Amino acid sequence: MEHTSWENVTYHAMVVSEEEGAFVRNIETLTLKDLPEGDVLIRVGFSSLNWKDCLSAMGNPGVTRRYPHTPGIDAAGIVAECTTGAFHKGDKVIVTGYDLGMNTAGGFAEFIRVPEEWVVRLPRGLTRKEAMMLGTAGFTAGLSVKRLVDLGVTPEMGTVLVTGATGGVGSLAVLILKKLGFTVAAVSGREERRDYLTAIGVDQVVPLDDAVDKSGKPLGKQLWAGVVDAVGGEVLETAIKNTRNRGVVTCCGNVRSGDLNSSIYPFILRGVSLCGIDSATCPMDERLAVWAKLAMDWKPDDLAEVVESLNGLEDLDEQMERMVKGERTGRCVVHIP
Ligand SMILES: NC(=O)c1ccc[n+]([C@@H]2O[C@H](COP(=O)([O-])OP(=O)(O)OC[C@H]3O[C@@H](n4cnc5c(N)ncnc54)[C@H](OP(=O)(O)O)[C@@H]3O)[C@@H](O)[C@H]2O)c1
Repeated sequence: MEHTSWENVTYHAMVVSEEEGAFVRNIETLTLKDLPEGDVLIRVGFSSLNWKDCLSAMGNPGVTRRYPHTPGIDAAGIVAECTTGAFHKGDKVIVTGYDLGMNTAGGFAEFIRVPEEWVVRLPRGLTRKEAMMLGTAGFTAGLSVKRLVDLGVTPEMGTVLVTGATGGVGSLAVLILKKLGFTVAAVSGREERRDYLTAIGVDQVVPLDDAVDKSGKPLGKQLWAGVVDAVGGEVLETAIKNTRNRGVVTCCGNVRSGDLNSSIYPFILRGVSLCGIDSATCPMDERLAVWAKLAMDWKPDDLAEVVESLNGLEDLDEQMERMVKGERTGRCVVHIP
């Protein structure tokens, strides 16, 4: 079918608009002309909710500069049209990160149109729904664990600490690490979520108060062989102080704070490595490698245990409010019928 024949097709999308200084979200009917230019038109079947989507939906200018806008940094679907020939109609694909859902209309819609370079073929071993149960959070957890493993952290070296462990990145990091045989400790600010953490395999729950060092000393006990941090601030600072000789700390998120006040001593006296994780700009070769692992030997056995499923875009608004208030646990996948 020719490119132009699609243009009057209508579709539904969540649209965030700025009205008198407030950001309002509605499900609207658009036509494919409203989508940006791009090589690959994708009929979205599933998307998922990530922290960045909440920021975009609530008008955070660090994420989205132009409104009206459709958020959704994740999408899995079927190629409707590809103008470059790199993909064929009917191919099952995933798009996560890059500019999707930031300043490019995102996955909270029945269609997206993106550059060919952003598109990942759905790996064998994952359904489109499973790919979105993982989504950016799972991909980021996978990247973080890959960094630990690549830099030599093994289950024999000791416990890995996961922060923000009841959240999307944290829950999936726990599941992947357990699948690889690691002993896992998890920080949580909520005592009532201890049972959830134990159920997903956490061996030791660290209350948030204990995860924030108040001694002022530059080094603490050597507790962790590795750390997957999704919260930043004092929690990350403390985790670095408590990392063992040659241990590795990954840092991907800032739900607590974007600040990091650390001395250099963990790095020069213990050889600790601090690695930044940026899933959005991850190069394609590493992206494919991580998705391949997530589809096969790193695929969490209990994925469904940490995922809530929505049918349609209508309930996403409420879930975003819950996420911002810290009331959500695990992941939220949305089926776009
Ligand atoms: N760099 C990347 O490529 C990348 C990719 C994905 C996500 N991220 C970032 O990673 C972070 C987590 O994302 P997510 O999707 O997992 O979010 P999420 O599902 O909302 O989870 C965040 C978790 O952090 C904990 N938390 C919240 N506020 C906290 C605070 N003030 N102090 C300590 N812990 C706190 C909460 O767990 P408890 O209540 O149990 O403590 C919550 O479950 C976000 O900053 C996100 O932007 C980065």
